[in-house]
Amino acid sequence: MIAPTLACADWLNLQEEIHIMDRAGVDSYHIDIMDGHYVPNLCFNLDILAAIRRVSATPVDVHLMVTNPLDYVDRLAACQVQLACTHLDSWGDPGEFLDALEDRGIRKGLALSPEDGVERLEPWLERLDYILVMFVKPGFSGQPFRPELLGKLTQLDTLRRSRGLPFLIEVDGGVSWENAGDIVKNGADLLVSGAFASLDRQGDLGERTAAFRALSASRCRHAAERGMNR
Ligand code: DX5
Ligand code: ZN
Repeated sequence: MIAPTLACADWLNLQEEIHIMDRAGVDSYHIDIMDGHYVPNLCFNLDILAAIRRVSATPVDVHLMVTNPLDYVDRLAACQVQLACTHLDSWGDPGEFLDALEDRGIRKGLALSPEDGVERLEPWLERLDYILVMFVKPGFSGQPFRPELLGKLTQLDTLRRSRGLPFLIEVDGGVSWENAGDIVKNGADLLVSGAFASLDRQGDLGERTAAFRALSASRCRHAAERGMNR
């Protein structure tokens, strides 16, 4: 499954590009929300998220890179987002964030930054619908993929199999045509597709999107039973 990251779309033609990607059959849109504090950058905000939701029925997974994630949850619910996650070192107890999502019927995720080990997720593992594993430093598109982190995917995949846990594994940062096979082979279900993948601006967006989805699906072991619309 693929989740194009709208950070890499043409923002001045966002609606048009979303419709092209919708027709190509994407599984989700990955929406980066930043506050300029948790990370030194800004990206989408909640108003743009609401506008995106109005023009497309495709599910969205919201990646919060903000200091105060709990303050965003009501508006995520108002936008009827399907999935949302935050980082472990934002303010507040991650458990409270998960409670807030659960109360509003949003599927729950936590994000691992490159320096976070898988063991940090242990207290919440059984509650998670998905885990976002970052292969670049949060904050900017276009950074190189760090293959030395691939072991985290096998660790998570082994964990869920041995304990019968249902969480999906989403990979974010530096995903490319070249490394997608390895990423899926190591256990990923959902690939965030940006500047090195379907949004590389190297040709027709619809064709690139469909081709990248086919590439990920041909390698994905879990895709069939772990759909986004569950
Ligand atoms: C980085 C963001 C990513 C980013 C990925 O902070 O979380 O979602 O958009 O872009 P690429 O695929 O270009 O690394
Ligand atoms: Zn992201």
